[in-house]
Amino acid sequence: MLASTGLAALAVAGSFFSGASAQNVPKFQYGTPNANAPGVVGANSNGPTNPKQPSLNTPINQTSEARLASINAVDDWCTFGPREQQVIGDVEAETVAYCTKPRNNARVIPDGTVTSVHFIKTPLYVQVMANGDFTKINLVPGDYGGELDPHGATNKGNPVGGNVTSNISGKDVFYEEWMNYISYNQMCFRVCIAGTDQAPTSAVCQHTLDEMGCQFVMPGSYTDNVFETCDADVAYPPGLYPQGGGYTSTFQQYYSSVYTDPNGGLHTFVNGSPDQATPTAAYSLPASSSCSSASSISNGIASIQPTSSMSSSSMATSASGSGSSRGSSSTGAANAAASGSSSSSSGGSSGAASLAPNMVVGSFVAVVGGLVGAVVML
Ligand SMILES: *[C@@H]1O[C@H](CO)[C@@H](O)[C@H](O)[C@H]1NC(C)=O
Ligand SMILES: *[C@@H]1O[C@H](CO)[C@@H](O)[C@H](O)[C@H]1NC(C)=O
Ligand SMILES: *[C@@H]1O[C@H](CO)[C@@H](O)[C@H](O)[C@H]1NC(C)=O
Repeated sequence: MLASTGLAALAVAGSFFSGASAQNVPKFQYGTPNANAPGVVGANSNGPTNPKQPSLNTPINQTSEARLASINAVDDWCTFGPREQQVIGDVEAETVAYCTKPRNNARVIPDGTVTSVHFIKTPLYVQVMANGDFTKINLVPGDYGGELDPHGATNKGNPVGGNVTSNISGKDVFYEEWMNYISYNQMCFRVCIAGTDQAPTSAVCQHTLDEMGCQFVMPGSYTDNVFETCDADVAYPPGLYPQGGGYTSTFQQYYSSVYTDPNGGLHTFVNGSPDQATPTAAYSLPASSSCSSASSISNGIASIQPTSSMSSSSMATSASGSGSSRGSSSTGAANAAASGSSSSSSGGSSGAASLAPNMVVGSFVAVVGGLVGAVVML
């Protein structure tokens, strides 16, 4: 759910965020993935607008109300989007599924929408990261986006009755925890496919950082004009900033933050400095490997407008992926039109997630590294 209040709060030094180089942090230690852990497989019934099961080659219906998204492959995924062109933050509960292929009775993302796709598989989740012109699926130009998840204001899902599957295990499985962010020019979708004691699906698919954007919540490569599939390390759960010495700080919205001391004690404080900055990058940029390039995706669908002709052979833009960005290479600039905070020139900075000017209302308590213990007293 999109927060209507201002952002944020936090507990570590600004220099930490800008200076922590993505590639130098230890890997997230998450234990042994269990595909049958609590909170992994969705066991309830589907939303009422959805087919019982995901399937390919369903009839194309660009006014469909279906809300069944499948996240399967670089060329086979869906996102939620507005039914009509509307600010998505206003209509999250009524968004519908748009898929790259005709499937699930859902709407089909028209050719020319998507300009890059990075599909990654990790032991705990699959994730799609895409750039493009999502005004073609009813985002309003310049809309910095919304966040969809299986909970929402009524706990019936956002969208209400929205469901998500992946076939990454070799068969179609409904998953309980997922998160989907979409703005006018970027989307990302994470589906949690396994859990552990240290990293339950509710943490790894934690979806309350509504306004932070894809690159903060789902770090990875967002390089444009690349279509690729990679394996990847598991990212630290969204908002988690390990501090060393057993300290962890957790970034949260709503002007509050939780600080964990080495004994595991939790300390909540309220941040009262809204003029300070929010963190600009995730704690780490997980390395990826075994990448394979794909050609750009296309399906022959020219538009979601029912009136436009689909017979004239709609050519897909044929930009095809070439180089694959591996490991911790910089992800470059974040959302294009935002603040222009591209990743810094000094090597080792991870891509800066930029926020829309009207979203940069967050704050965090700046505490220099040596004084981190002082956070407890705030
Ligand atoms: C398309 O979906 C809408 C909404 O579910 C439905 O009312 C309409 O009958 C569907 N059209 C076709 C041709 O199936
Ligand atoms: C479908 O989504 C609804 C709403 O979020 C949820 O209550 C239900 O458990 C989901 N069903 C499955 C099979 O995931
Ligand atoms: C998932 O479905 C796609 C079809 O879109 C297929 O190409 C792929 O092999 C399937 N993946 C697995 C792991 O079965």
